[in-house]
Amino acid sequence: MITKIFSLDKDNIDQNILNIAANIINEGNLVAFPTETVYGLGADGLNEAACQKIFAAKGRPSDNPLILHISNQDMLYNLVDSINDDAKKLIKTCWPGPLTLIMKKKSVVPDAVTAGLDTVAIRMPSDKIALNFITKANTPIAAPSANTSGKPSPTRAKDVFQDLNGKIPMILDGGSCKIGIESTVVDCSEKNPVILRPGYYTYEYLKEIIPSITLDDALVNDGKIPKSPGQKYKHYSPNAKMKVYIGDNASKKILDQAMKYKNQNYKVGILTFDDSIAYFDDFKTISFGNRDNLSYMSHVLFTALREMDSVGVDIILAEGVNDIDLGKSIMNRMKKSASNNIFYL
Ligand code: TXA
Ligand code: MG
Repeated sequence: MITKIFSLDKDNIDQNILNIAANIINEGNLVAFPTETVYGLGADGLNEAACQKIFAAKGRPSDNPLILHISNQDMLYNLVDSINDDAKKLIKTCWPGPLTLIMKKKSVVPDAVTAGLDTVAIRMPSDKIALNFITKANTPIAAPSANTSGKPSPTRAKDVFQDLNGKIPMILDGGSCKIGIESTVVDCSEKNPVILRPGYYTYEYLKEIIPSITLDDALVNDGKIPKSPGQKYKHYSPNAKMKVYIGDNASKKILDQAMKYKNQNYKVGILTFDDSIAYFDDFKTISFGNRDNLSYMSHVLFTALREMDSVGVDIILAEGVNDIDLGKSIMNRMKKSASNNIFYL
């Protein structure tokens, strides 16, 4: 299969290109598209066979359910049984935007979407191309991140192409994703809402809207099994081995380690902040920007991991951040990328 990339301008979306994309969806095939978080790999969310193609293209385990993306609230009422007051509050404050809600599903939602669960994940993205694409296809679009399972999520069309070239007919290129990490997933199917995956909307922020909201045990205690099926898999992994250091002495430790690996003839890549980058003149470096700007760090994190792989480093030594606010969402990704090789100094 030939994979075609079509560029779209968010402020002046070419309707002919969108029509082609919508037709591909309505015929039961796949289209990758930009959202404000990461690129998604879309299929008609009400078409079981189309959704199964997503699992094949990504190499995704079949017990890992998909998110349905909608462009208006009427679509929501067709998909879920009931919407409790907490879910209504979250919808009012955070949609359209990087928040996914889990609710009890209606029978119209295929098993391939929910991996057989009685709940379904739904999100209304804020990206203009995503919203217009869903409206044009006139169906909820099932979409996981558009990467090969296990790899860092794609934040640029070229990342999608790298993973899925030859496996899907079309990629809509809307430039680089604003946020760069995936949506916050909140389970609203039971009495008190639970955050299953931290994202751009942080625990601290959501607690102001719903004081009873909690974090899934697995996000607080590493030994617990996550409630969200997707959270238990190997994830966001670069080809290179990765280690993450946190604390005042992180730069010094990273430099020690980098020299050690270099002496053993390993090619080393360093991920650090603007104020420390000068230490690492002898190495391939990418900056996470200013250490106070966590939004920028989340924006570049996955791109940086993919860039390190593209220059072929053997080992990535990265500086991490504290586990609070957006730092919690960033560290959730970094811990998985580094297979839990995290060192507090
Ligand atoms: O920002 C995002 O959420 C991106 C863009 C494309 O929208 N999508 C995304 O999808 O990250 P994916 O498939 O990579 O992650 C979806 C997560 C997985 O951890 C999955 O297990 C969880 O949501 N999930 C989906 N349905 C669920 C359900 N019914 N119950 C619990 N977890 C669910
Ligand atoms: Mg994913």
